[in-house]
Order: sequence, then C-alpha cells, then structure tokens
Amino acid sequence: MCGIVGAVSRSQAVLRPLVEGLRVLEYRGYDSCGVAVAEADGVAVRRKVGRLAELEAVLQDGALDGALGGIGHTRWATHGKPSDENAHPHSDGSGHLALVHNGIIENYLELRRDLLDAGVTFTSETDTEVLGHLVGREFERTGDLAAALRAALARVQGYYAVAVVAVRDEVQIVCARQGPPLVVGATAEASFLASDVLALIPHTREVTYLEDGDVAILRPGGFELSDLAGNPVERPVRTIDWDAEEASKGGYAHHMLKEIHEQPDVLAQTAFDRLLQVEGDVAFEGGGWENEALQRVQRVQVVACGTALHAGMIAAYMIEGLAGVPVDVDFASEFRYRDPQLVPDTMVLAISQSGETADTLAAMRLARSLGARPVSICNVIGSTVVRESDAVILTHAGPEIGVASTKAFVTQVVAALLLAVRMGRARGRLSVEQGRELLDELRRLRPRVESLVSDEVDARCAEIAAQTQDAKGFFFLGRGINFPVALEGALKLKEISYVHAEGYAAGEMKHGPIALIEPGMPVVVVNSPGRVASKVRSNIEQVKARGGRVICVGSDPESLALADEGVPVPATNEWLSPLLNVIPLQLFAYHHALLRGCDIDKPRNLAKSVTVE
Ligand code: F6R
Repeated sequence: MCGIVGAVSRSQAVLRPLVEGLRVLEYRGYDSCGVAVAEADGVAVRRKVGRLAELEAVLQDGALDGALGGIGHTRWATHGKPSDENAHPHSDGSGHLALVHNGIIENYLELRRDLLDAGVTFTSETDTEVLGHLVGREFERTGDLAAALRAALARVQGYYAVAVVAVRDEVQIVCARQGPPLVVGATAEASFLASDVLALIPHTREVTYLEDGDVAILRPGGFELSDLAGNPVERPVRTIDWDAEEASKGGYAHHMLKEIHEQPDVLAQTAFDRLLQVEGDVAFEGGGWENEALQRVQRVQVVACGTALHAGMIAAYMIEGLAGVPVDVDFASEFRYRDPQLVPDTMVLAISQSGETADTLAAMRLARSLGARPVSICNVIGSTVVRESDAVILTHAGPEIGVASTKAFVTQVVAALLLAVRMGRARGRLSVEQGRELLDELRRLRPRVESLVSDEVDARCAEIAAQTQDAKGFFFLGRGINFPVALEGALKLKEISYVHAEGYAAGEMKHGPIALIEPGMPVVVVNSPGRVASKVRSNIEQVKARGGRVICVGSDPESLALADEGVPVPATNEWLSPLLNVIPLQLFAYHHALLRGCDIDKPRNLAKSVTVE
C-alpha cells in the first residue's frame, strides 16, 4: 500500500528525514518510490521503480542535499504498471510543483479528457498526474498552494490522501485527506506529515490525525488545519506512547487486528477505480477480460487453498448467478492429483493472496497442460501466479502480515464480484441497470464495512467470545452465498485459537452433524435476507430445539430475534452480504485467540505462504 511523507524545516536539510521516513514505510510494500524537494527556483523530483536503495543511488550525487522542504512516496501500483514514469511524485510540468497521492481519483478519465482538450501533455498512466495538473493550473494563477489544492479537490471524486510541495517566493507544503489516513506533527524547528504515524515517531510523538475533508498547511515549527472551504478546524493532539514493536502494528495489538481495520480501505482500493457506473460494467487493467474472451468461456474451474478457496466458492455463486456460466470449485491440492476432465474453453481461475502457493501453482500448470486458460485473482504483483496467468485481477489489499487472512479475503470477494459482473455484461446475461445497481451498492459498502470495525462491534464480539470461551467445539452454519462465509468463520477460529470449529452447509446438518448438538453448544449462524433466509431460520429452530446456543451474524432480523446472541450487520444486496458478514467472524476468532493467550499473528504450525506441498 502506498506511503506518503513530507517535511519542511527552518534551517535543516530534509532529504535524509524524507528517505528515512520512506524506509519506515517499506513494510507496507511498494514497487517504486520517489521524492520531490524545494530548491531556490523550483521543485526537483527524483523517482525510481524498485527498492529505496535504487532511489538512494540516484540521490547520491548530493544535488538535493540542502533542500529545506519536500515530500516522498512509496507506490504500490494501481493505475499503470510500476515504472519510473508512473512513480510519484508527479508534477504539472511547470517545475514549480510536485504532488504525491494515495487512493483513487474516480473521475480521472473525465478530468484527463478535459485537460487534454486544454492542451495539457501527460507523461504517466496514473490518475495522480491529473491532480498534479489541476493543482498546478490553479497555483499558477494565484500562487496560493492551499487554495489551489482546495479548488482542484472540488473537481475530484474519489478517495485520497494527497501532499503537495511548491515553490513561489517561498516553500509551501500542504496536504489533504478524504479517506486514506494522514497525520501531521511539528517540532520547534520543522513540521512533518505522513500517511502512517510510524514515520513521524522519529521526529515527534505529539501528532494530529487529519479527518476526512481536512487540509493542512505545514510551516517550519507548526501547521494550520482547515476544511475544504478554507474554514479553520481544530483536531486534538495525541501523544503516541507505543514502543517499537507496537509501532510496527500501527498501534494495534496485532497485525491481524490492524488488517481487519484496513478492510474499508482495501475494499475501496480494489473496487472503486474499476467501476464503470454509467455502463453498469467493470474495466480491468491489463488484457484478457474483453467480451470475446469471456463469451468463449464454457466453464470456470476455480482452484485455490484455504481462505482463498472460500473466496473461490463465493465466486462460484456469483459467476453462476450473475453470468450464467457453470463453475466447479476444487481444492488445488485435490485438483492437481485427480484426472480433471476439462471441457474445451474452460477458464481456470486461481485465487491466491501470496501468488506462491505450491498447490495452486501446480493446479494452474496442470490446467494449462490440459489446454485450459489459467487466469487469476492475486494480491502480489510479480508473483509466480501472476506471471503464469493469461489474465490477472490484482487485489489491492497491500501486504498481509498476520498469518490468518482477513483483508485479502475481502478483496478476493470484491474481485470475484467484479469478474462476475464483467462476465455477466459480456455475455448479455446482466443488463446495464442490473450491473449498475450492483456496482452502486458496492460503492455504498465502504461506510458499512467501517461500521463493522467500530469499537461497538468489536466489544460485542469480545463479549460473545468471553461467554463461549470454554466451549469444546463450535459449528458455523450458512447457506447459499453465506455458506463459504461460515466455512471461513470456522477456519479463522480454529487456526488462531486452536478451538475445534466445523463449518457446514446448514441444510446438511440433518444428515449427520446435528447428532453433535448438545445443550449449550455454540452454533454460529450466518444469515442475511435472500433466497435461502427462511431455510436458515428453520435450521436455527432445529439447533435450538436440541438445546444449541445460537449466535446469529447477519442482517436477517428474524434470525437475529430467534438467536440467543446476535451481531447485527448492515443490510445490503445478497450478493454483497459475505463482505459484511465475515467481519464479525474475524473479530470473534480474534477475541477467542486473545482470551486463550494464543500467538495470533503466528499461529502454531502455520506459515503465511505455503510454497511447499
Ligand atoms: C488462512 C490462510 C490460508 C491461505 C492459504 C492460501 O487464514 O491464510 O488458508 O488462504 O494458505 O494462501 P494464498 O492465498 O497465499 O494462496
């Protein structure tokens, strides 16, 4: 995930602190990096694809060593491949201004068209460069950088953290937030900004977080905060007292918890810039997802492991339901050792966070040897899965450090939905209106995901975990598109808290497993309104009749009323409900593991990336 730093000082050079700030943010993952610093007569930019060491090699000539203000960026490619040209900072070509950006300018194509008509020349494929030109044109007119940024942002739809450096008579540094985090802090000598408080800690532990709609003007020794209309705003100063270990988790007790909390952002990162709202369709970067390719597909075969397999099962419901294409799903480890009979024009869809899982790779290679076309949903650019795929949908979850997959799952499900909509539209199964309705709902999901990572939901999950901490075992039940969510809830609980948990299709209970239900046994039931909601309600009754203790997660009010305990989830379209329902299950597993004193980020016997059989 991209990182931003910035600094302006009265008399001390800022280049080293900027580079050190970028080094602190390296853990977030990146594929290119750069800095822009203010000189007497303009702004100098240096940027490089690859690691920070390569940027440092470029900076070794010492030309920028004396600068008193500047910004820096680590980029995780979204718009445009990793390259020197697409790396940030971007400028407007004037030599007086440069800008870095995290997030997405959703209407960048429209803005880019307007700018091209006005004679602007672009030098990158990024959405960010559009913003550079918009700010640059205003700055040229007024010389007031904060006003220029506000005017530019008024034209932008999207989701951003942005920092700009400009020079006209004096050095000016401003930043603004609408979505991704930004934090500022000052010493008597200088002031600093960063997208992650970790980069500020070497300078100050007194920090101020910007809120959505805030603009900050940095000056040596202080900063001013205002809103997008220019009215002053006040935000509290917080003292960061984390030690180094806590700091690497951004203040959360565990990487897993931090990653659960990143889910509103990664959902937006994976989805929003691909939505063609008017057309009710989706545009993926890279080839292989065009109408002709998708119209030819006779069957889809999903191969994946673990959590990624659960995302694949959800993909199967979506692709069959929205695109009308038959889908088979298999454990990659099973697929590779059976004799799969693939019909001509089978699209083999591999799903993997790491892109290095041995079984998934072997399944893809087998599929190719059988004449199928391997495509993938993957989080790691340049990974083997990506390199060996004919077409790729990258998830933009950023690095996932906790062994238990959380944010990667959510982005895989988002990618699956986008693929199902693209296939449905390509094959004429989904109308413009139906596509639009689904994508509109997806766009509305971010605040609902945010509401589920709130203190209130966290406390409720912790409370239920405490009530059930002595249970010998758990059932997780669901049907339809929420059946894989039940499997995922059970997997999360067993892998991090070492409690036996069984995920089941609720309708299968009566064929055997219901014999295990005894008074007090906790049964987590996932249910949201939809075609099987009433069936799940009957399953709840069956569990209750045998004395089971039902914990309902979802947005079906009747199920919540029937249950002994409930975690209500905001309502949404049935196709999108897994994206919300899974979050309380992640928190529930987390709190169980916490109560049991388990090593949450590194559960016993497990590795983050399973590169061997
Ligand atoms: C569970 C988990 C694993 C992975 C599985 C596949 O929380 O993380 O089940 O989902 O090992 O890994 P990737 O997605 O890297 O192929």
